Amino acid sequence: MNVIAGSLRGLDIRAEIDRLRKERNAVILAHYYQEPALQDIADFVGDSLDLSRKAAATDADVIAFCGVRFMAETAKILSPDKIVVLPDMNAGCSLEDSCPPDQFKAFREAHPHHIALTYINCSAEVKALSDIIVTSSSAETILAQIPQDQKIIFGPDKNLGGWLARKTGRDMLLWPGVCIVHEAFSETELLKLKAQHPGAPVLAHPECPPHILDHADHVGSTKAILDEALKSDSETIIVATEPHIMHQMEKAAPHKQFIGAPGADGNCNCNMCPYMALNSMEKLYVALRDLQPRIEMDEQLRLRARTSLDRMLEMAGRTVGQGDVGRPVFAGA
Ligand code: 13P
Ligand code: SF4
Repeated sequence: MNVIAGSLRGLDIRAEIDRLRKERNAVILAHYYQEPALQDIADFVGDSLDLSRKAAATDADVIAFCGVRFMAETAKILSPDKIVVLPDMNAGCSLEDSCPPDQFKAFREAHPHHIALTYINCSAEVKALSDIIVTSSSAETILAQIPQDQKIIFGPDKNLGGWLARKTGRDMLLWPGVCIVHEAFSETELLKLKAQHPGAPVLAHPECPPHILDHADHVGSTKAILDEALKSDSETIIVATEPHIMHQMEKAAPHKQFIGAPGADGNCNCNMCPYMALNSMEKLYVALRDLQPRIEMDEQLRLRARTSLDRMLEMAGRTVGQGDVGRPVFAGA
């Protein structure tokens, strides 16, 4: 038992979270990669785009973000007057780590005629250095609004960028970052699994490398994968993304069989996100009780990061709280 869990022995954590969320007027947001208990207690579970929209639109006083730090930072950038807590402040992301702001700034300066289209999985500093933020569910829609002759830097995920480039025919300069979770899937093991389950569709996240995406029947964000799994006629489905998303699939379609794509030894835990796994029910309780750990951000940094995030919300099809403003053509960054 860890230190926090030990000190809370005897408490009904679920009931305490329910009491505190009312007392604090808090909304609990959770990503699909969180452990099932956190998904089940959340007011809203979603992908990065939907969670950003919820964070921007909520009238709660406190946002308790069960996800990783860049997601909670995004909530703070969009809702500066709210208290935003993250159960474990060490919940980072390998994509964020792969893109230090000083190196990204130098890269941009070396390519002055390129705009920076940047995956939301990055620090607030990198968002502030970017022109438009995208998520896996909004990237294609946003890319389609950027004139064909506009040169583009895409970072930090080279797999998402590569998939977009292949799908749309756009030639983009890719930052060499990867998600350690999606990199861990094994093509050999996936082919063995497909052979064992002929006809089972493979649903994959675009953070997977090309040798995995080449075997996918459907590529999309976590939300898109979930929707596809539920609408598929197949009774057996192979899921190539972080396996905690299968909790939602199993709840919604208990008669179907969902199988996580394997890692290199066929049965490892290497596809569990170690950063998401830092959050727990106990830490969520403590975060609501103490309103710590809290996201704090320099206001100048926040405002600069907000510009690129607002462009995403507009270009993805909707501006939260103001109705649809529409932005059919990229207006320049
Ligand atoms: P989405 O939920 O937007 O697909 O993002 C996946 C992810 O890796 C989040 O860290
Ligand atoms: Fe980052 Fe990958 Fe974990 Fe998502 S799954 S938070 S991209 S390390």
